[in-house]
Amino acid sequence: MNNFTYYAPTKVIFGKGTESQAGSLVASQKCKKVLLHYGSGSVKKTGLLGRVKKSLDESGVSYIELGGVVPNPRLSLVREGIALCKKEGVDFILAVGGGSVIDSAKAIGYGVTNDFDVWDIFEKKNSPKNCLPIGVILTIAASGSEMSNSAVITNEDGWKKRGSNSDTCRPKFAIMNPELTMTLPEYQTMCGSTDILMHTMERYFTSNGNMQITDSIAEGLMRTVIENTLILLKNPKDYDARAEIMWAGSLSHNDLTGLGNGGNDFASHRLEHELGGMFDVAHGAGLAAIWGSWARYVYKDCLARFKKFAIKVWNVENSGSDEEIALKGIEAMENFYREIKMPTNLRELGISPTDEQITELAKKCSIATGGKVGSAKVLYEEDMRKIFDAARV
Ligand code: NZQ
Ligand code: ZN
Repeated sequence: MNNFTYYAPTKVIFGKGTESQAGSLVASQKCKKVLLHYGSGSVKKTGLLGRVKKSLDESGVSYIELGGVVPNPRLSLVREGIALCKKEGVDFILAVGGGSVIDSAKAIGYGVTNDFDVWDIFEKKNSPKNCLPIGVILTIAASGSEMSNSAVITNEDGWKKRGSNSDTCRPKFAIMNPELTMTLPEYQTMCGSTDILMHTMERYFTSNGNMQITDSIAEGLMRTVIENTLILLKNPKDYDARAEIMWAGSLSHNDLTGLGNGGNDFASHRLEHELGGMFDVAHGAGLAAIWGSWARYVYKDCLARFKKFAIKVWNVENSGSDEEIALKGIEAMENFYREIKMPTNLRELGISPTDEQITELAKKCSIATGGKVGSAKVLYEEDMRKIFDAARV
């Protein structure tokens, strides 16, 4: 068991109707002016934005608005938000939406409070010392950004999708009403479950250590997400299944499922970020499309964990060689992706990168990761290229 620090400062308000508390929660932050930040239309269509504004008005909160965040949120809107917040004296951001809106809010919060260019943070040229305080009303269970220390932004100049981690951006509170996720298209629900599973798998597949309690939580979380995702495939309005998945989404990426085991692989994520930057694909679908190729490339270097995954998460029988058992676990995961209509390769994802693009994807990923990534197996640029290439099938 490795030493660890656990920091999860976000206050969680979970359950039906909780968005009505938005006004009082924001008012309790003692801020002067709020930026209400949201996406490309769903919050207007569902009526959520209207309800949130009413709640802010009733609590006497003064706010301005900036909508228009798109999936794979753009740096240009972040810059617009920074200028607006500075001009209007905004000292709190309320993000109403999913990971893209929350991450855009975090980046705006960085830009307002640090005296250097915000993109430097994502290029790792500078570290944020501060961030504006952020509150969240979550509308999709997926990214875990509502409790995480991460933000991921796409710079249209070069189509670079880059992430940054800092405890300063962890939201002050997160309102999570599973009912709000019932308006999601099936594809987004399934992308969300894929991302949630991946956040735990990135921590589970490690060659750096073990901790039984962490493994048990991780395995239980993965089984729960798998079971409830299949329920949502049949009945998207099942409240309990929505709730199980929503809470799993937060626990999967607030560090809980990697404590003490040195688990921090994140290679699939870093590979996907390049796909998202170049081809603007949905994050969860991109992860599903790359995972099988990654897993088959690395499993022999992390055999004990892949075997455990097969047995504990997929109930694979503990007989035959370790390699056979591990491969059955990988197959079971891929079959699950197929069942929930997620892609298992780049063709199914709807993209056909050329050889030159595969080389470029690997090069960009290598630059973004400082030359290497992974704890199940350390990957270098040539490994990244081979995994992208294998995923084309
Ligand atoms: O923009 P609107 O109109 O709201 O539509 C969104 C968007 O098209 C829609 N949507 C969201 N809630 C809805 C809804 N539609 C109907 N009803 C609702 N209740 O869903 C689409 C996807 O939204 P988005 O916010 O992009 O999804 P997600 O939460 O999956 O976020 C993805 C982004 O988060 C990043 C990803 O890379 C990607 O850019 N990540 C952030 C992380 C973090 N900050 O910790 C970690 C993750 O690994 C991930 O990298
Ligand atoms: Zn993710």
